[in-house]
Amino acid sequence: MTFWKKPESFGFRLPDLSLGEPEFFSGSKCRKLSGTKLMNDLLKQCRNLVEERYLGYPRPCLAVVLAGDHPPSEVYVAHKRKRFADCGFDTQLHRVPAKETSYDRLFSVIDQLNSDAAVHGILLQLPLPGGLDAAPLLDRINPAKDVDGFHILNAGFLSVGRYDGLLSCTPFGVFALLRAYGVEIEGKSVTVVGRSNIVGKPAALMAVNARATVSVVHKQTPDIRPFTRMSDILIVGAGSHHLIRSEHVRPGAVVVDVGIHTTPAGKLEGDVHPEVYQTASMVTPVPGGVGPMTIAMLCVNTAMACWSQVPGQH
Ligand code: GUN
Repeated sequence: MTFWKKPESFGFRLPDLSLGEPEFFSGSKCRKLSGTKLMNDLLKQCRNLVEERYLGYPRPCLAVVLAGDHPPSEVYVAHKRKRFADCGFDTQLHRVPAKETSYDRLFSVIDQLNSDAAVHGILLQLPLPGGLDAAPLLDRINPAKDVDGFHILNAGFLSVGRYDGLLSCTPFGVFALLRAYGVEIEGKSVTVVGRSNIVGKPAALMAVNARATVSVVHKQTPDIRPFTRMSDILIVGAGSHHLIRSEHVRPGAVVVDVGIHTTPAGKLEGDVHPEVYQTASMVTPVPGGVGPMTIAMLCVNTAMACWSQVPGQH
């Protein structure tokens, strides 16, 4: 079973962002890995592909299922829908009030979307209210429409190095960004900080599949520094504000910051402390790094899911 081929076979091209005027963090020689730049390029490609190569195909359509009231989720979902509209894709929003949220109700919404040929991608926004376990619901989504890459079959494809399934958007975006900036993975030492199913584990698998030597460290690791300090590349999705300091980073390393925290002053900051700009050679900014890449890869996944679902094509 193959749900989609490599992005290139659909007409996507990764720009070479290592060319052109480099941007540095102020007062340092540390280069910014701009997710915003790559997102804008990929969204433009989405729009062009819809208007040219895939003219006459159905427009890619993402259905978002939003259960309960979780203000940050409202913001994320509005943001995703805006980006989809920017590239000429359709979205639908299916709200389920918290008091009506149950496995049966959500199974029924998912079943209806699975069987709707006009819906190409389904995203069940997490977290769910009332402590509901997401796993059985994620596994109910048709894996060919699982644009989050969270279905057990898509996770399984990744774990055996088969790029036949849909990939989890955040780690997919991280590796697209590294590739666009010419960061080599093969033979390098990579440490992933955090072991979540959404970021840490798939990121570690993508690094292993790209033939890196990989360590995964997390909250129960007594001292993460021996691992992080020996690494050429750090991917940090710890969910811990400014956890990574200069003492964690090998001089010249590349650091990817997946963290996002809102300070009391309303500023967005990551898991990586700014002092790291004095040690690392390249870092993703927050905001403007991994966040935009997650949305870009959701658009790419939805486009590929759509074009794969057209009978007789690809
Ligand atoms: N909640 C926060 N981030 C995500 C995401 O990437 N996908 C889903 N489904 N829910 C989220």
